Amino acid sequence: MSSFLYQKSYISIDQITKTSQLEEIFTLAQEMKQVVEMGKVNEALKGKSVAVLFYQPSTRTFSSFVAAANRLGAYVTAIHGMEEYSSVAKGETLEDTIRSIYQTTGADAVVLRHPENESSVRAASVSPVPIINAGSGTLEHPTQALLDLYTIYENMGRINNLNIVMVGDMLYGRTIKSLAKLLAVCSPKSTITMVSPTELKAPPELVATLKKKIRVEEETDLTKVLAKADVVYMTRVQKEWFEKEGKIAEYERLKQRYVLDTSLVKTMKSKAIIMHPLPRVGEIDMAVDSDPRAKYFEQMRFGLYVRMALLKLILIR
Ligand code: NCD
Repeated sequence: MSSFLYQKSYISIDQITKTSQLEEIFTLAQEMKQVVEMGKVNEALKGKSVAVLFYQPSTRTFSSFVAAANRLGAYVTAIHGMEEYSSVAKGETLEDTIRSIYQTTGADAVVLRHPENESSVRAASVSPVPIINAGSGTLEHPTQALLDLYTIYENMGRINNLNIVMVGDMLYGRTIKSLAKLLAVCSPKSTITMVSPTELKAPPELVATLKKKIRVEEETDLTKVLAKADVVYMTRVQKEWFEKEGKIAEYERLKQRYVLDTSLVKTMKSKAIIMHPLPRVGEIDMAVDSDPRAKYFEQMRFGLYVRMALLKLILIR
């Protein structure tokens, strides 16, 4: 039986509606982990072509998608800096660019990162092949949510009954929104605590939607909630959106509101884990890196496994 993702665009975390779908992805991600760790050759995507188009800066998502497609033997066309170096700079629409890349590369799937919330929906509406959303606007990062939950699963041995403390920019950050929505579906017995300055609280509509399925608390004081956390998910304050809205002074005021340092980490449970989608820009002190609870570097590696799994599910089974 083919996957629920077979030949489908993966645009929103809302497409994961039941735990069995998550299990399918995680089971394959575990297989992919074996492939990578054992140095096995698995060219399941041999003969397939994957285009990777990025209109926003990226280190991890870009390199792990390219590596995932390469490792599985696909032909990869990867273009970074689309906004600056492609015909987008001449005024070409997203729709025409997607049509063009399909024609010029013969892509069987297109991975897209773009600053607009609706970009993946627009791309999918004209694309003859699946679109995979690698981060759009301020609302969605559905592959990041999967690798985040996979990191939790690998480290905690479960995904439910957890206290998950999300810290930083709940307003502009997209990773926490996708992760929170995924938790609401797959981890309804957990609690999400969103810690942010009042100015950077999560959109009320999102919180209301989440609250129908999972317990959500909002807090401004990080020190109050660390001791009960099983997962502390740090995020950066998203400078680019403040710049866009001409609010750079506000960014400067808020950017260092929460800094996780060794003295704060001491107040955490011994079995808790610290995550971050990265990049960090000061919100986790580097002295924390050597703490066994710091999982943000291995979190990135799980992105490779999860993205290999997704490409396989979308393209071949
Ligand atoms: C995140 C993003 O692009 O939303 N980065 C990533 O993909 N790991 C987080 C961020 O930029 O803060």
